[in-house]
Amino acid sequence: MTLAEIAVSYDDMIADWQRDPEGFWGTAARELSWARDYDTVLDTSEHPSGRWFSGGRINTCYNALDRHVAAGNGDRAALICHSAMTGDRLTLSYATLLERVAKLAGALRAAGVSQGDRVIIYMPMVPQAVIAMLACARIGAVHSVVFGGFAARELADRIDDAKPKVVLSASCGLEPGRTVAYKPLLDEALRLATHDVQLRVILQRAACPVELAGAGEVDWNDFEAGGEPVPCVDLEATAPLYILYTSGTTGRPKGIVRDNGGHAVALHWSMGALYGIDPADVFWAASDIGWVVGHSYIVYGPLLRGATTVLYEGKPVGTPDARAFWEVVADYKVKALFTAPTAMRAIKREDPTLALTGGYDLSCLQALFLAGERCDPDTLEWAGAALNVPVIDHWWQTETGWALTGNPLGVGLFAVRPGSAGKAMPGWNMDVVDADGQSLPPGETGRIVCRLPLGPGALLTLWNDSQRFENDYLSAVPGCYLTGDAGFIDSAGYIYVMTRIDDVINVAGHRLTTGTIEEVLASHPAVAECAVVGQRDALKGEVPFGFVCIKAQADALDPDTVVAELVQRVRDRIGPVAAFKQAIIVQRLPKTRSGKVLRGVMRKILNHEPWGIPPTIDDPAILSEISDALAARRKL
Ligand code: COA
Ligand code: AMP
Repeated sequence: MTLAEIAVSYDDMIADWQRDPEGFWGTAARELSWARDYDTVLDTSEHPSGRWFSGGRINTCYNALDRHVAAGNGDRAALICHSAMTGDRLTLSYATLLERVAKLAGALRAAGVSQGDRVIIYMPMVPQAVIAMLACARIGAVHSVVFGGFAARELADRIDDAKPKVVLSASCGLEPGRTVAYKPLLDEALRLATHDVQLRVILQRAACPVELAGAGEVDWNDFEAGGEPVPCVDLEATAPLYILYTSGTTGRPKGIVRDNGGHAVALHWSMGALYGIDPADVFWAASDIGWVVGHSYIVYGPLLRGATTVLYEGKPVGTPDARAFWEVVADYKVKALFTAPTAMRAIKREDPTLALTGGYDLSCLQALFLAGERCDPDTLEWAGAALNVPVIDHWWQTETGWALTGNPLGVGLFAVRPGSAGKAMPGWNMDVVDADGQSLPPGETGRIVCRLPLGPGALLTLWNDSQRFENDYLSAVPGCYLTGDAGFIDSAGYIYVMTRIDDVINVAGHRLTTGTIEEVLASHPAVAECAVVGQRDALKGEVPFGFVCIKAQADALDPDTVVAELVQRVRDRIGPVAAFKQAIIVQRLPKTRSGKVLRGVMRKILNHEPWGIPPTIDDPAILSEISDALAARRKL
């Protein structure tokens, strides 16, 4: 059944879904290959959040690769790898990608990795990283990709939680102006972790070959070459495909667990209906495989659809300049581009009139999709006018795996309202509630929730911590999933996602918890107490900013030295991705009479927003001290 037969407009599509949600997703599921048909489309008997396609057996890798080769499309380009860092370009057809995945899967199997075992992938944006994810999916091993911008301690935490048999890594990643030596970071992580990893497979990159340790460490090329190709394993639709760690409210990251069946159905459907991508079209998600966008729309979504996906190593600017994206779009005839608003702001800053698009034929580009952070209307309107294509802001989370809201290019766009992230996609029954969990009328701001059950592709649970899944997401508002975002829905159904309700901040589309940064600052011997809040930033949306009180006995220390040490400490413990570069030493922190730090008012003072004296504050004079200290700092 084609998309056009399913619905002809957003309203029809939503009406179809509302009338018969199981029929809607059952129809979508029939477009994939199942080793065994499912018993139920949606089962809520044990888990109110839902289990999709229970009883069914499926393999995600089969649907992403083998299915297309079996249909005679082996010659079609599957993966285009473009490195703005090295100049390397490589295109792998579906047949070649399948061959390489099957061999690596065989090598992993021969190394003792079997269904349900975990494999950590700590790699830069190279084809082997995609091959590794699919190879795990092929044999039912559960991959966990760790973003390269994290420090050794963060990698160690993930190793201890996921307990992988194997870590797949590379000698280095390439960032503008520097080589990120992964191998020493991996060595340090393994030293810090208590879990013992049996095998490390290291890809040697020309920019920085490394010595391998011998026992327990092998060269990637030898390992892959020695693998005997293996077929796909049939898996329960509800079996885990991967774990992806994301920031939690404590220093301990949350391992989002994704299933095979619901995920494959949702992503396949979204590629056509939401992104308007047909088989053989070229789709480019300019993200990183370490984030959920990379999992869903660099790797799984486009391949499930039989489309061509682009893996890009580089930045929107500086590699070498603001024309980098347009070169990729024109060279590979990208039909839809997906990136973060930050990337567009970076390009806008360097090339405000898009003069650098001159010379590139961008007529292939039909839409620009933005997500990862709130998109300011200015950037959205600038990009639309400059590129002359619809710009679609859509909202999603690591937890949901794909968009909660959007505007379906493949079905028919409705009018964009800048500032909103579109309307709810099928699968997500969105609502806005007050502090007591009561639905609010249109236009009123409150907590955005999703009424249970969740759509296909949403997280099953948290790895090793189903209690935390219940506590963090399901217990605050009975019968609902708490998104952690606040905003409103207007009378036409457009959803406006305005801010987080927790201490998560969004830095260049990367999700960080201020609490984690505070833990690192507090570990410095001179620090008595501290608070970290998000400072508005014209490029990255937000960046973390620290307020730090020094212990009395450390008063003699030079404040600049302490701040520099704190910045380095966050870089060493969390990683450069935290982008923690600014802090101020203050005498005291504002607190309530019960001792709770008043971060909200500090954030407002920092960002020059109107602020009042909270009625619960213990000593209002501290707010003037903070305001004066910031003003003095600005004068420097
Ligand atoms: N491995 C190692 N280090 C990494 C890394 C990786 N994979 N990715 C980023 N880093 C480092 C960077 O080198 C930088 O380090 P520095 O402090 O030494 O300069 C730091 O982490 C912050 O990186 P980044 O957020 O990329 O900022 P930037 O200042 O280097 O570049 C932009 C600014 C706007 C170009 C960049 O933020 C960007 O491309 N944003 C788009 C965001 C995006 O795609 N988000 C995905 C969600 S859809
Ligand atoms: P992550 O899990 O890293 O993808 O981050 C998810 C969070 O990013 C969401 O909960 C939002 O706070 C924010 N976010 C993502 N997309 C949007 C968007 N289009 N508009 C506003 N906020 C967004």
